[in-house]
Amino acid sequence: MNHKNNVVLIGFMGCGKTTIGDGLAYRLKYSFIDTDKQIEDEMGTTINNIFKMYGEQYFRQLEHNIIKNINKKNRQVIATGGGIIKNKNNINELKKNGIILYLKASSEHIYNNLKEDNSRPLLQVNNKSVVIEQLLNERKYLYEKYADIIVNVSNNTVENTINTIIEKIGEKYC
Ligand code: S3P
Repeated sequence: MNHKNNVVLIGFMGCGKTTIGDGLAYRLKYSFIDTDKQIEDEMGTTINNIFKMYGEQYFRQLEHNIIKNINKKNRQVIATGGGIIKNKNNINELKKNGIILYLKASSEHIYNNLKEDNSRPLLQVNNKSVVIEQLLNERKYLYEKYADIIVNVSNNTVENTINTIIEKIGEKYC
């Protein structure tokens, strides 16, 4: 498809990286990799438990190690955890072999997707919508700065989003 071999999805928790990534991989005939899922499989427990037992710093190290391994392979759509952008080395590594695609979602869209969800350790709070807003404000400039392509996912169906992604990749890289 292009000189870079992978498509890397970045974006805030609940923006749809896993669902969109899975569908995109199917359309591109790429394999689909989810960094959180790989960490859970390797550790034999949930992200929630990893945070509880070992803390966020430990999780971030696992996340970094997994990226190095994933990056050795080609033709993959990679859904990353929302905090991947906290370590610039992660992005530098992923950029070596991948297009970075930011799935941009509004805080309302994210809250709607996550209001009934308890699987995110950073959102185990009473005021979930406020924390989403704060974290998104802290991080959004990083998502934008690192992105090669930005696709808006709010008010859009998964199918439309995937079509837009394929179009944008085609325009920019083929
Ligand atoms: C995190 C996002 C999560 C997961 C962990 C930390 C974050 O992934 O990696 O809970 O810091 O934003 P998703 O973006 O897939 O929810």
